[in-house]
Amino acid sequence: MKIAVLPGDGIGIEIVAEAVKVLNALDLSFEMESALVGGAAYEAHGHPLPDATLNLAKASDAILFGAVGDWKYDKLDRPLRPEQAILGLRKHLGLFANFRPAICYEQLVGASSLKPELISGLDILIIRELTGDIYFGQPRGRRVATDGHFPGAEEAFDTMRYSRPEIERIARVAFEAARKRNKKVTSVDKANVLETFQFWKDVVTDVHKEYPDVALEHMYVDNAAMQLVKAPKAFDVVVTGNMFGDILSDEASMLTGSIGMLPSASLNSSGQGLYEPSHGSAPDIAGKGIANPLATILSAAMMLRFSLNQEAAAQRIEAAVQKVLAQGLRTPDIHSEGTTKVGTAEMGDAVVKAL
Ligand code: NAI
Ligand code: MG
Repeated sequence: MKIAVLPGDGIGIEIVAEAVKVLNALDLSFEMESALVGGAAYEAHGHPLPDATLNLAKASDAILFGAVGDWKYDKLDRPLRPEQAILGLRKHLGLFANFRPAICYEQLVGASSLKPELISGLDILIIRELTGDIYFGQPRGRRVATDGHFPGAEEAFDTMRYSRPEIERIARVAFEAARKRNKKVTSVDKANVLETFQFWKDVVTDVHKEYPDVALEHMYVDNAAMQLVKAPKAFDVVVTGNMFGDILSDEASMLTGSIGMLPSASLNSSGQGLYEPSHGSAPDIAGKGIANPLATILSAAMMLRFSLNQEAAAQRIEAAVQKVLAQGLRTPDIHSEGTTKVGTAEMGDAVVKAL
């Protein structure tokens, strides 16, 4: 089991160290190899995704990723910005299926901004398509308009684009996942306005014929954004495109109490995956030893489940996380009165001890 460990920048370094501690505490033999990525790689090699890092990622069964980015790189040309490293890894490895489970642990019901009865017992799965849509569609750029409301004015444009096979494969991932859960898929689109998403809706409806045991509903994205905070437990599996999924999954993270609790998995068609917390490098708290490592530790559990065929070990980690929460240990982002405030390393140590 070969794991590429890519901590990246900011809190990425601190939280990945805790996840590695937890992996080492399991009685499994991993081969773990680290490499620089993001701003750290730019500083050392002049590129956020050096060939050596990409090759290590390609040669591994799974990638454990922290986060990349820092405000100090905002002025760099776009191809050299740290965030290009994660986009490059998704593209080069074909990581088209992004799983973002939003689970509200009972111990954290009070940490959410929503009423306890709305989120108690919440367990939904957002599946975001990750390599298509307006984030990758060509052409894109800036030019002088020759038509439209202001001919002759400077304008910018991107292209929203999905092919039938791209939609079919992510729809299958969603129906398969729903089969193992509560057998309901909500496909989120904007078919009333966008041709790309009328096509999305048509293709998902076609694929659904292969899964008569799973219920399918279609929902416009604006309504889905509303329903997520109105009645989040009405969802089971949500499947959507790259941009809508980006926005809705961040919205869903707040249902769980903190973005520091939200793991993710990004998979390709051969089961290889990249595992990372849903948050970024949090430059505002980097180096202070207070970041919540649980999203990364839970991402490592997803790695064991999806890419390394170690379901039992995944469940052990998830149970250990619940145990430390039950003990009342909290990093500052989830701290409330009556609980014990701990730092990043203490939280990691507590998970190891609970294992
Ligand atoms: P962010 O997710 O890094 O931080 C947002 C807020 O959440 C901050 O207040 C931060 O302190 C807090 N936060 C995040 N993770 C936390 C944790 N584990 N424990 C406690 N608090 C936590 O998003 P932001 O500030 O918009 O972006 C910072 C940098 O990260 C930017 O350069 C951005 O491009 C990059 N980024 C990278 C991602 C990746 O590597 N996949 C994803 C999102 C952003
Ligand atoms: Mg995002």
